Amino acid sequence: MEDIFRQAEDRANTLDDRVSSLSQVLYLMYLARERKASSIAEIGFSIGYSSIAFLESSPSVEVTSFEIHNEAHVKSAKEFIDSRYPDRHHLIYGDSTQTVPAFQVPRSADGFDLIFIDGGHEYACAKADITNARRLAKPGATLVINSLTPWFKWGIGPTTAWEEAVRDEIVTPLEYVSDAFAVSRPQGPAQRAWAVGQYQ
Ligand SMILES: C[S@@+](CC[C@H](N)C(=O)[O-])C[C@H]1O[C@@H](n2cnc3c(N)ncnc32)[C@H](O)[C@@H]1O
Repeated sequence: MEDIFRQAEDRANTLDDRVSSLSQVLYLMYLARERKASSIAEIGFSIGYSSIAFLESSPSVEVTSFEIHNEAHVKSAKEFIDSRYPDRHHLIYGDSTQTVPAFQVPRSADGFDLIFIDGGHEYACAKADITNARRLAKPGATLVINSLTPWFKWGIGPTTAWEEAVRDEIVTPLEYVSDAFAVSRPQGPAQRAWAVGQYQ
């Protein structure tokens, strides 16, 4: 997994970014395996680290990613993934607040087993993503939301949207992870924190 991660990595990343990302992608890979997820959606593809994690979790997994940008780093990550995992990755370009509600789950499937939200970090976008992705989820599907780090500016939106989804019983929290350790609640100054839940 680490070798693949290094092949796919973007030269602009610092070593610290890479190492902390590695713990998260390993977590995602094991989570998908443990949940026996075969159909996974993610919002926020970027350079494809989380897609690789999910695709590595099992040879039968298919991943659908929603990504607003089609810049060179996104395209090269997509090429890498298509060459390594042919026909198992689907990339939908556009703003997730539009593309997720417009997405038609194939008739042969009854939705995604696992959804990873790591796209726009503004409150309105994170809130829309949690709400809209629910329509694409199988009953009881697993939801992971990244960046529950309100001590950073970019963590405020996802944290507020997550807390509201728990309060409104859209999702039941199962686990919080902070810098690769399970915690009762994420707390600063962790660099990364995320939550795992189950859609109601
Ligand atoms: C933190 S990165 C995702 C990292 C990725 N999950 C990984 O592990 O490599 C966030 C991504 O979300 C994308 N994004 C931001 N706003 C978005 C939106 N409204 N719709 C879809 N993608 C969006 C950004 O372009 C960026 O590539």
